[in-house]
Amino acid sequence: MENLKLRVSEALSAYESRAAEHLEDLKELARIPSVSFPGFDPQEVVRSAEYVKALAEKRGLQNVQILKMDGVHPYVYGDLIRDPSLPTLLLYAHHDVQPAGDLDLWNTEPFEPTEVDGRLFGRGAADDKAGVMVHLASIDAWLQGVGELPVNVKLVVEGEEEIGSEHLAQFLNTHKEMLQADCMVLTDTTNFDTGVPSLTISLRGIVVLDVEVETIDHAVHSGMWGGPIPCSVMALNKILASLVDDKGELAVPELNALVPELSDDRRADAAELPAGEEAFRRQVGMLDGVDRLMDDINPFAATWWKPSLAINAMQASSRKDARNILVPKAWARVGLRTTPGMDSAAAAEVLTRAIKEAAPWGVKIKVTTEGVGDGWSTSTEHPAFDAGRRALEAGYDAPAVYMGCGGSIPFVEPFARELGGVPALLVGVEDPYTNAHGENESLDLGDFHKAIKANIHLFAELAETLSQA
Ligand code: BES
Ligand code: MN
Repeated sequence: MENLKLRVSEALSAYESRAAEHLEDLKELARIPSVSFPGFDPQEVVRSAEYVKALAEKRGLQNVQILKMDGVHPYVYGDLIRDPSLPTLLLYAHHDVQPAGDLDLWNTEPFEPTEVDGRLFGRGAADDKAGVMVHLASIDAWLQGVGELPVNVKLVVEGEEEIGSEHLAQFLNTHKEMLQADCMVLTDTTNFDTGVPSLTISLRGIVVLDVEVETIDHAVHSGMWGGPIPCSVMALNKILASLVDDKGELAVPELNALVPELSDDRRADAAELPAGEEAFRRQVGMLDGVDRLMDDINPFAATWWKPSLAINAMQASSRKDARNILVPKAWARVGLRTTPGMDSAAAAEVLTRAIKEAAPWGVKIKVTTEGVGDGWSTSTEHPAFDAGRRALEAGYDAPAVYMGCGGSIPFVEPFARELGGVPALLVGVEDPYTNAHGENESLDLGDFHKAIKANIHLFAELAETLSQA
């Protein structure tokens, strides 16, 4: 025990002397525009996989390889199996990123990571290239400072997380044996606030639908023909507006029937959260006078435990081409966040039906499912959770909290299940100001260092806890 403590402090000092180098590695990784979305150069995702592979090799991982599947953005794997009798951790992060969005709204170049006031700005600087670096830096710290890790590790860095991990089942089937582990550690979530170390214990699921409404077979003069012809854009908006009520709650009864009841325990936890409406409005930049919806519960808790519907994008002519026409075709991307315990595939079917049924005026309507993923939640009974809290508190020098997450990580549920329900510790380097997916994404560099220190502690905490379990 004393011995283990000494080793942790040796690993920590090894990290301190390498911290600047890891930050440079992060910047280099974030310079690669590894956008996994269709329409972006997939070679860039290959390039980031190759760079992650090179870093993993440089930091002492073994069996480092790019796991290729035809037509799939590459996953990277590496491991360090010191002794099969030691506990084995499956470490996860992803190296693909979201598109940069509107370049005019960025204050710095999205793919030229730039430090401003203690934050590193750039697409992927936080989500999730910092997550990749947290694993690599803590492995490196143990190898440099102690010469070995107190656990075995298997590192998986995914290349298609931001587009819904479409080939996860195939990946899991192919590499089942290789990926066996006693505990998962994922660095792809957020802290409740800057400097507040957090363990995420639930994720929402997701349903993504494309909806297209058509009325006439070409654009026509809106004066000459307007009136008798249904407007495609109006029809689409009527459909979408029918899906929520005035409070922003889902207004599709069959969909609500799929949502598990919010337990009294969860409501009680929500009432005790250390931040409420004011912090929420400030963090997210809500404009004065704009209503806050779902006001029967703390707004942070609402994002974790309630379903929500958003129109992610719409197309019907364009601002640039706006002219006096009847628009023949209108399109929308509809994103539904499902709650943990809710069947997302069933939700996709029900929502598709509701959208079709809401179509007015006999308009032609096409609904296609673009993606479906289930949410996840865990109990915190397994002693690995306490080990996780201790490690976080040591690394951040602050009390740790449990929290939910409104976002989704498709990897978690199927992997935890495949590994026989082993504990999954979800930690992260994001904070409420990170603005992942939006313009001006950034990483708090103080939290980046703390997250690495916490992860160094975590290896030791889990070595003890899991070998007793
Ligand atoms: N890192 C996020 C998940 C997340 C979101 C963590 C919010 C903490 C707070 C992850 O990279 C992500 O964005 N996932 C996608 C998954 C989807 C494409 C299936 C998401 O939630 O939109
Ligand atoms: Mn992410």
